[in-house]
Amino acid sequence: MGGGAAGLYVALRAAEQGAAVALISRKPLAESASYWAQGGLAAALAPDDSPARHADDTLNAGRGLCRAEAVETLAREAPAAVEELRERGVRFDTEPDGSLGLALEGGHSARRIVHAGGARTGRAITGRLTELVAAQSRITVLEETSAVALWSDGSRCAGVVTDAGPIGARATVFATGGGAALWRRTTNPWGAIGAGAVLAHAAGADLADLEFCQFHPTALALPGSEYDGTLLTEALRGEGAELLDASGRRFTDELAPRDQVAEAILDRIEADRAAHVRLDLRSLAAERFPNVFAACRAAGLDPHREPVPVAPAAHYLMGGIVCDLDGRASLSGLFAVGECACSGVHGANRLASNSLTECFVFGARAAIAAASAPSSDAPVRLPKWRFDPPTAATREAVWRRAGPRREAATLEPLLDDPYPLARLVARVALDRRESRGPHRRADHPRRDSALDGVHMVIGPNAQARRERWS
Ligand code: SIN
Repeated sequence: MGGGAAGLYVALRAAEQGAAVALISRKPLAESASYWAQGGLAAALAPDDSPARHADDTLNAGRGLCRAEAVETLAREAPAAVEELRERGVRFDTEPDGSLGLALEGGHSARRIVHAGGARTGRAITGRLTELVAAQSRITVLEETSAVALWSDGSRCAGVVTDAGPIGARATVFATGGGAALWRRTTNPWGAIGAGAVLAHAAGADLADLEFCQFHPTALALPGSEYDGTLLTEALRGEGAELLDASGRRFTDELAPRDQVAEAILDRIEADRAAHVRLDLRSLAAERFPNVFAACRAAGLDPHREPVPVAPAAHYLMGGIVCDLDGRASLSGLFAVGECACSGVHGANRLASNSLTECFVFGARAAIAAASAPSSDAPVRLPKWRFDPPTAATREAVWRRAGPRREAATLEPLLDDPYPLARLVARVALDRRESRGPHRRADHPRRDSALDGVHMVIGPNAQARRERWS
C-alpha cells in the first residue's frame, strides 16, 4: 500500500525476489508525498565521514530515544543504498569533477546529503522508480484505489480491503506515509493523515512514539494564503540562509538539529510578539533551488529583495506502526516501511534527510522478509470496521492542542476527538510527562532522564505501555 518512494521500492525489490506484487496507491503514482520531497538522502560518502559519525549525529538528534541497532543499520547501509539507486538510473547531483555533490543540513557534522535536481530529489527518485515498476511484469499497479480496512481478524493480516474490494496477500506492506497533515499547519500534502497507523491499529497492530511530531523550522508563514506552510528546505540553511528576528538580527545556530531551531524560532516569535521570523535567502543562487524560489515568487514574495516570513509547521511523525528491522509489525502478515513505520530509528527527533534513506535501507530488508513470508490457508473473516478521515475541526484541534507547546489541559479534550489517531496522540502525549525533542510541556518543562529510551506503545486495547527497545 502506497505509491511513494518506500512503496515503489519495496514493490520492485519484492518482485525481484520472485513475488507477485499488487502495488496499491490512493493517488496517481506521481502525486505521492515523496514526489514533493525537497530533502535528499543522508549517507556517509565523503572521505572524511563515516557511518559511525552519521550514527552519532542521528543519536544526538534523536534525544535519547533512538533504537541503537536501527540507527547503526541505517548509517551502515546508507552508502550502498545511494550507490544502488545510482545503478538503477537515479541521477544525483554531481560536482564539476563528476563526484557526488554532498550538502549540509541541520544536525549533521559532515556534508552527507545527496540531492537530485537541486531540491527536486523526491521527483527524481519516484520518477525513476515508477519507470522501473512499470517495466516489471510481476507488479500490478492499482492507482486511485484506497484501503478502507486491513483484512484481519486481530491475530493475522490476510490482505487489505479496498474501495474496489478485498485483496488477499501472503504479506501486506504498508508504505502509506506519515501523519503530519493531521496538524492543520503542515508542510505535508493533505493526505498525510496517518491513515496507515489508524488502519493497522484497528486491525490489531501496535503503534508507538505518536507523541513525537517534528515541526520543520522554516515553512512559509502566510496565514490565509494557499502558500502558508510551504516547505523551505533545510538545505537553504546549509548553503548559508540566515534566520532573522523582528529587528533583522540573527538569533540562533541555523544548523542545529531541527527541534532546537524550531524551539529557538518559537521563543523568538514570542519574545518579539510577532507572527513569524524571517529567512534571508539573498546570498543564495536561485538556480541552485529553482522550486523554492519559484514557490516564493508564486506566493508574491521576492526572496532576492527581502527575507521571507517563516514559522514552524508540522512536518514528520516519528511515531507509527511498531516494526522490527525487517519491517515486521506486531500483527502477523503485516509489514511497515517509511514514515508510517516506527522502528525507533528516528527517536524523538529525526535527523534531516534520514527519512528517504530509511525508505531504501529498511525497504530492501522488508521486501526480502515479505517476499518470503509463509502463506496460510486458515480463513480470516472480513472485518466490518471502515476508515473515516479526520475533519478540518480535528486538524485544527490537533494543531492547537498537540503542537510544539502543550500541557495536560490542552491535550485532554483531544481524548474525545472522533478521529482515532488524534485520541491516541493525546493519550501518549499526556502519559509522557516531560519535555523532549520537538515538544515543550508547560506543566513538565524538563527532560526526565528516567524516560530515556522509553517508548510509549499502544496495543489494540488502546492502553499505553512503556517499552525499551535497545
Ligand atoms: C528539508 O528539505 O528541509 C526536509 C527534508 C527532511 O525532512 O529531511
